[in-house]
Amino acid sequence: MVGPSTEFRLERLDSVALVTMDDGSGESRPNVLGRAALESLADLVPELEQGDFAALVLTGKPGSFAAGADLDEFPLIETKEQAIEGSRAGHELFGRLRALPYPTVAAISGACLGGGVELALHCDYRVVASSVRHFASPECLLGFVPAWGATQLAPRLAGAEAAVKLIVLNPMRQNRMLNAEQAHELGLVDRVAEPERLVEEAIAIAGEQPPRVEADLSDTAEVVRRARSQLDDSLHGAAPAPYAAAELIEGASHWTLEEGYRAEEEFLAELLFTRQAQASLYAFDLVERRARRGAGRPDAEPREVRKVGIAGAGLMATQLATLFLRRLGVPIVLRDLEQEIVDRALESIRNDLASAAQRGRLDEETAVSLAALAKGTTSYKGFGDCDLVIEAIFEELDVKRQVFGELEEVVPAECVLATNTSALSVTAMGEGLEHPERLLGLHFFNPVALMPLVELIRTPETDDAALATAWALGDRLRKRPVLVNDAPGFVVNRLLTRMMVVLLDAIERGNSVEETDEAILELGLPMAPSVLRQMVGEQVASHVLEQMQSAYPERFTIAGEGPVRSTEEIRTAVLEALADETRHLLEEGVVASAKDVDTTLILGAGFPFFMGGLTKYLDQTGVSERALGQKLADYSYELSSN
Ligand code: NAI
Repeated sequence: MVGPSTEFRLERLDSVALVTMDDGSGESRPNVLGRAALESLADLVPELEQGDFAALVLTGKPGSFAAGADLDEFPLIETKEQAIEGSRAGHELFGRLRALPYPTVAAISGACLGGGVELALHCDYRVVASSVRHFASPECLLGFVPAWGATQLAPRLAGAEAAVKLIVLNPMRQNRMLNAEQAHELGLVDRVAEPERLVEEAIAIAGEQPPRVEADLSDTAEVVRRARSQLDDSLHGAAPAPYAAAELIEGASHWTLEEGYRAEEEFLAELLFTRQAQASLYAFDLVERRARRGAGRPDAEPREVRKVGIAGAGLMATQLATLFLRRLGVPIVLRDLEQEIVDRALESIRNDLASAAQRGRLDEETAVSLAALAKGTTSYKGFGDCDLVIEAIFEELDVKRQVFGELEEVVPAECVLATNTSALSVTAMGEGLEHPERLLGLHFFNPVALMPLVELIRTPETDDAALATAWALGDRLRKRPVLVNDAPGFVVNRLLTRMMVVLLDAIERGNSVEETDEAILELGLPMAPSVLRQMVGEQVASHVLEQMQSAYPERFTIAGEGPVRSTEEIRTAVLEALADETRHLLEEGVVASAKDVDTTLILGAGFPFFMGGLTKYLDQTGVSERALGQKLADYSYELSSN
């Protein structure tokens, strides 16, 4: 997809050169710095060099300063030489801005990411609009390093600690971003301004020219050592990029800027062709583009959701209630069997909202008024005017069936019925219902506030209106719905359970829990399987396992005979089992392609970008060809639409 290219436009404000980056797409797309954009800047630089300006103010459009290099152009980079060239072109061009004979100021008007940060770092000063929520250098998440100067300029400006946080640690912590205030606190920007006074403040700071103190870099080695050990804890060496970035930051303490630029160029060229970078770019495309487009989304008009009912007031129900309140701001009603459980849930919802207010995520007044929208009951009082009801009760088919039967008697005819079941058949839940066409699965993941995925489960009966309504709801909740056909365990739980079976099998053979954890953690996965199991809860985990065993006894039964395995052998067995299970998922048409398997694992189970979810890794490392005789990317099925 070729988007509009960002132009650098110069206008004169008295003696100040005001350069604005704008791709003309309004707020629909961010400014990106592709080849054409850099050419537009290169065309302008001689004018800036020769003009008699008192200052340069460089700004973007509202909402976007610059989002960095154009990832769509990355596949065009085929050789290391080309990678070096692309990096050097940026160093030279931005270096010329840095060398202008008058003060230069970046007026950061909106999201400032990757190459956008590097452009801003080449200015003498940075003023950021207080509304900016995204200031970040996500390159390491994408498998490479900043290579237009950030690893060299950020430490010189703000010290090693700030540089490490921005470039090494934040990207690997689920791509954490800084807001305007945080970027200011870290010393990466000089001033925070009201958005409407941004350019004015930028001109003012150029006039004042506050003295610049070079950051003290004497603690760099120690800061970098700590960062490496944090990386070891979470990645176990499975991704090279953040380690390389740490090395570049360390280098900044004793290299000249030119030496640092050359090192960035070399590192980029090395990293760009690693399997991790290729997998990360694939993963980025999946979650930022494919999942947002919503493969399989029906055209039907979604119904409005003005009130939500929740059956159950346990672990998941409580989290769902908080999410619905925060994102939808509509009344909700919970129902459980005992008033005590309901009261506990309401209390916990109030506490969650209050703590969000304390952390500045919500203002106090809103927190109080949202809390007042939550009601609870042991009857179905209050369910009569719900537009959607989701159940999160015990994981037992008969109990869920009974509850849906009771619900049908009280909810309006158009109300969508959803289940948060982990593994039960949604189709079976609908048997006996008067209107099974409005039933579907909305499978959220624990912790609900953090995991972006919702598996949207369609049965053969589900109609498009119900599906469209649930999909639109997913959007409003800021989740990423992925369409899944009804099958035991859907995608994420089915694969995680297959993994667990291999691990439990190893434990039966005499391996320790620590060994099974280690086998998985060395892949760079974020959580030890034993911890994951605890988080899900023993009861839910065993229900899912039983469910999978009864559906597919030949693959989900723990055999447990045989010798103790090495961690390497356990890992190989897990990976081959996952390749096999993915093939079954695809052959059954549970999802349309291996890409959906990867999307769900990244968004629902935190599988890393540098593995490209799962199937990319299995294909890259030869596991799928060894286990299945072909790559998983080559399986492709169209989901039948009903
Ligand atoms: P939980 O045990 O914390 O909560 C279940 C609640 O349902 C209990 O409070 C129980 O009193 C109530 N309940 C039972 N029968 C009821 C009925 N007839 N009417 C109203 N309430 C009734 O369980 P949890 O963990 O919240 O799981 C709920 C559902 O969500 C299950 O289907 C589970 O598989 C699914 N799920 C669980 C996840 C997890 O990580 N725990 C993740 C995703 C889905």
